[in-house]
Amino acid sequence: MRDSIVIAVDGTAASGKGTLAVRLADQFGFAHLDSGALYRLVALNVLRAGHHPADEPGAVAAAVAIDPASINSDALRTDEIAEAASIVAAFPRVRAALLGYQRNFADNPGRMGAVIDGRDIGTVVCPGADAKLFVDARVEVRAHRRWRELEQSGRPVSEAAVLADIRARDERDRTRPTAPLRPAPDAFLLDTSELDIDAAFVAALALVKPRVEEALRTRRRG
Ligand code: CDP
Repeated sequence: MRDSIVIAVDGTAASGKGTLAVRLADQFGFAHLDSGALYRLVALNVLRAGHHPADEPGAVAAAVAIDPASINSDALRTDEIAEAASIVAAFPRVRAALLGYQRNFADNPGRMGAVIDGRDIGTVVCPGADAKLFVDARVEVRAHRRWRELEQSGRPVSEAAVLADIRARDERDRTRPTAPLRPAPDAFLLDTSELDIDAAFVAALALVKPRVEEALRTRRRG
């Protein structure tokens, strides 16, 4: 058993998993890692190098060379980068190149525990996580949320285009042979279609808290 406590938060695009992961990390005083930002960083570097995201050698070279210190960059938060991220993320060698960083973060978060959000945290990166959540919502609801975020950040787009992008990305993430998007068998499922973010957090906390408390007791005894 690792010393640090790990909460894995996986889910579909714009399901609310990132916000929930940040809030859970604050709640427990744990460190947070947005693993999607690592894939976005690979995508950004591929595009900046003038390669197409479907160019596997270019994507692998970018994955090996990323500097995770840049994962908070605003340049990662565009739809173009999200789309390119889901293309590079389908390459097993890109995923393999990012695995060590994620596992090391889980093992050495610099706090008592880590909350990591993504697509394959509970299934591949940390199959032994102490608590696993899989967050989803109806695709129309998710598209509406993402559209509203883009509007509010001054990047207006049509809602139909956002819906089409999210559908295409979910499909690619679900059907790739390596680390497809799917709930771990022992994940708690949380559907946020009818929940605002505060209600979703209350529900997420109710699911995860008993597992975290049990893990804390076990670590203290051990
Ligand atoms: O925030 P949103 O859900 O829109 O995207 P994200 O979490 O930043 O992830 C962007 C893309 O990276 C996803 O569509 C996945 O293809 C990929 N990804 C992945 O394959 N595995 C992860 N653990 C995280 C992200």
